[in-house]
Amino acid sequence: MEQSGVGIAITGSGSATPRVSLSNEALSQVVETSDEWIASRTGIRQRRLAEPGCSLAKLATEAGRGAIEMAGISAMDLDLIILATSTADDLFGSASQIQAELGAFKAVAFDLTAACSGFVFGLVTASQFIRTGVYQNVLLIGADVLSRWVDWSDRRTCVLFGDGAGAVVMQANLHDRLLGFELRSDGTQNNCLNLSYQSQPKNLTDDVTINQGTFHPITMNGQEVYRFAVKKVPEVIEKALFRANLEVGEVDWLLLHQANQRILDAVADRLKIPPYKVISNLAEYGNTSAASIPLALDEAVRQGKIKPGQTIVTSGFGAGLTWGAAVFQWGR
Ligand code: ACO
Repeated sequence: MEQSGVGIAITGSGSATPRVSLSNEALSQVVETSDEWIASRTGIRQRRLAEPGCSLAKLATEAGRGAIEMAGISAMDLDLIILATSTADDLFGSASQIQAELGAFKAVAFDLTAACSGFVFGLVTASQFIRTGVYQNVLLIGADVLSRWVDWSDRRTCVLFGDGAGAVVMQANLHDRLLGFELRSDGTQNNCLNLSYQSQPKNLTDDVTINQGTFHPITMNGQEVYRFAVKKVPEVIEKALFRANLEVGEVDWLLLHQANQRILDAVADRLKIPPYKVISNLAEYGNTSAASIPLALDEAVRQGKIKPGQTIVTSGFGAGLTWGAAVFQWGR
C-alpha cells in the first residue's frame, strides 16, 4: 500500500507462559463446574497459571527476548518498549523493569492499559512513533497475570482466564506492512467488565478524608460481553479492511483476541471467513487478555502456519469497553 512517511514491518515474535497448567478437571475441585460445561461454552480445556515467584515482568521479558532474537536485532537497538497490560507488578508501571532486564538501555519504556484490546492499541500506538520517523525499533509486549485478580470462588469468571505474555518487534521498513486499523471505545458500557478499585473513607484529620482500599476481583456480565463482541468485532474488522483497501477474501488469517471459541466462530461466520483461516489456541491457555493475540501469533509463526507476506487481520476487544482491529502482512 502506498503511504507517505515511513513503512512499518513486524519482524519478530516471542512468547512465554507459566510452567503450571490447570485443567478443567482440576478446576472442578476449586468451584462447582465440569470440563464438559467449560469446553462446550468456551472451548477452553486448560490454562497456565503463574506460580509464586513468576512475575509479570519475568514473563514479559522472556517473550520480549524471543521477539528480539527472531527480528535479528539486539536489545540495545530498541528505541521504545511498550508493555500492554492490566496487571502490572507495580501500578507505577512495569515496562522500565523490563527495559532494565533486557539491557535495552537506549529505549524509553512505558505501560499501556486497554485490557484485552491492549495489544492492538499498542500496535497502533507504536506505529505512530515509527511512521513519524521518531523511532525505528519498537518492542511491543502484551502480558497479563489475571490469576491475581480473579475471584477463584466465582465459577462464572474464574474458568475463563489464564496467564501469559507475547511480544513483537516492529521496525521502520521500506515497504509498509501495516495496512490499516480502526480503534474504538465506549465508556457507557464500562460496567460490563471491571477490575475496579474499591475503597473505604479514612479520616486523616478532622477536615480531610481520603479513600483507601484495593482492587476488587473481576466482575463480568458474560452475556453482554458476548453480544458486544459478536456485533462490534466484525464491524471494526470491516472498517480496518476498508482502510487497507482489502476484501475479506484476501485475508490469510483471522487472529482474534482468544476470549472464547464461540466468539471466534461467530465473528468468522459473520465475516464469511472459513474455519481453516481462524487461529485458535485458547483450548490450551484460556483468555490471557493483552497477551492472547501475540501469544497465538508467535505460536502460529513458529509452527510455520503464518508465512512471510501473508495478510493477517487481528482484533482485540474487552473491558473499557474497548475494541479495535489492524491489518498487517507478516515479516519484512
Ligand atoms: N460451570 C458450570 N456452570 C456454570 C458455570 C461454570 N463455570 N458458570 C456459570 N454456570 C451456570 C450459571 O450459574 C447458570 O446456571 P443457572 O441457569 O442455574 O443460573 C448457567 O450456567 C448459565 O449461565 P450463563 O452465565 O447464562 O452462561 P452463558 O451461557 O452465558 O455462558 C459465558 C457464560 C461462557 C461466560 C458466556 O456468557 C460468554 O462466552 N461470554 C463472553 C464473555 C467472555 O468471553 N469474557 C471473557 C472476558 S472479556 C474479553 O476477553 C472480551
